[in-house]
Amino acid sequence: MWESAGGLPHSLRAGPDALRGSVADVPDTLTIVDNRTGLEYSVPIVDGSIRATDLRQITAGDDDPGLLSFDPAYLNTASCKSAITYIDGDAGILRYRGYPIEEVADTTTFLETAYLLLEGELPTADALQGWEADVRSHTYVHTNVTKFMEGFRYDAHPMGMLLGAVGALSTFYPDAKDISDPENRYLQRVRLLAKLPTIAAYIFRHSRGLPYVLPRNDLGYIGNFVNMTFEIGGKHEANPVLQNALEILLILHADHEQNCSTSAVRGVGSSHVDPFSAVSAGIAALYGPLHGGANEAVLKMLDVIGDKANVPAFIEQVKTGKGRLMGFGHRVYKSYDPRATLIKQVADSVFAETGLNPKLEIALELERIALEDDYFVSRKLYPNVDFYSGLIYQAMGYSTDYFTVLFALGRLPGWIAQWEEMLNDPEQKIARPRQIYIGPEKRSFVPMSDR
Ligand code: ACO
Repeated sequence: MWESAGGLPHSLRAGPDALRGSVADVPDTLTIVDNRTGLEYSVPIVDGSIRATDLRQITAGDDDPGLLSFDPAYLNTASCKSAITYIDGDAGILRYRGYPIEEVADTTTFLETAYLLLEGELPTADALQGWEADVRSHTYVHTNVTKFMEGFRYDAHPMGMLLGAVGALSTFYPDAKDISDPENRYLQRVRLLAKLPTIAAYIFRHSRGLPYVLPRNDLGYIGNFVNMTFEIGGKHEANPVLQNALEILLILHADHEQNCSTSAVRGVGSSHVDPFSAVSAGIAALYGPLHGGANEAVLKMLDVIGDKANVPAFIEQVKTGKGRLMGFGHRVYKSYDPRATLIKQVADSVFAETGLNPKLEIALELERIALEDDYFVSRKLYPNVDFYSGLIYQAMGYSTDYFTVLFALGRLPGWIAQWEEMLNDPEQKIARPRQIYIGPEKRSFVPMSDR
């Protein structure tokens, strides 16, 4: 699918001297005139992008190391080529391996989606059976993991516990360091997918002082997780509507190309650390309120607003720069987040089952007013995936500070698929951005007595 630099006309891959001062006779090029020197450069355009390293040939003199591109927060920089997830933020399109998210969410299970993201194709019935069996046979965690978890305070934040526990898994599986062996990577991938629900459920129980419930391998992936969280006295009656809703929510979160946590997994993984450590870096990134913590922040915001009548005043406050409307806006989607559309449908099915959540009324009013307000419309701020997900998780019985753990369960296949893709990409190296130094010029050290 991707055309590599190796496929470019040779003249465009030649050294700086070959390019300097001439416009290459190739249509897919960018001509740059450096007004400092009057020199003209031709840079190839491939897949709608230029290579930042091609700018290095543009120098203002012999001691100039060459032009850098400056892009804080990677607003317009592609850090990799990826065949996993396609997003068109303006059109509100999201596809996993080419399949529209609406179809994936409607027809597959979470483990099937994970297989699709990881392997690139939908599984055959046999392949899916084998995949599910592999995951099922790794759901237990070493009992020392539970002992380790008991050391957390009763009120420890679930995401802090999750990132600590997943990082600690690397010490239980030192074989995971051998990242060059595809079979070994497969084993670690299965371990991660199988054990994350167990750890997540233990965290849920730990926060409540409840005894841990062991995995039940006669249940499906979602059913087992829900049972481990909610079983009391050996009993839990599964609610198929809520389990189906959770399955869809996890599928909707399964990958979202180069977001903050995935970039963290890729960046940390690029040092060739084991996948447990790389994934725990992703969990740390997801913890932040601007990323996975947003659905928790939405619920806190709804608590602060307190009543539908207070919504207009809250909106006015946001418009004056005092705080943000959490669950609104997205770096990539500049129209309605397609996942938010699907989540609204899930919300309908869940609230029909559990009864209306009083906060839903406030959320609907916020959305109604914001979508009519020029501040939000002109900035293309629409509800994102997190605007309604928190309300659904709360209706299912999960506490606010636990929501991001559910997001992590969903995002795990994406993190591993992107990590695997990064390792297999011959163009990738250890991630190492450049900087523009703006500090003092060289100066003489001042002894303490003279300061
Ligand atoms: N409420 C009010 N104003 C907002 C919001 C918001 N939620 N989001 C952006 N804006 C405003 C900014 O103040 C800025 O206005 P200005 O041009 O007058 O300065 C403008 O919109 C652009 O905002 P940026 O911060 O430049 O947009 P960016 O792409 O960097 O931010 C982000 C995206 C972080 C998601 C932002 O919209 C936000 O903070 N939203 C709330 C948190 C949230 O819901 N995060 C979840 C994201 S989805 C996910 O991680 C799964």
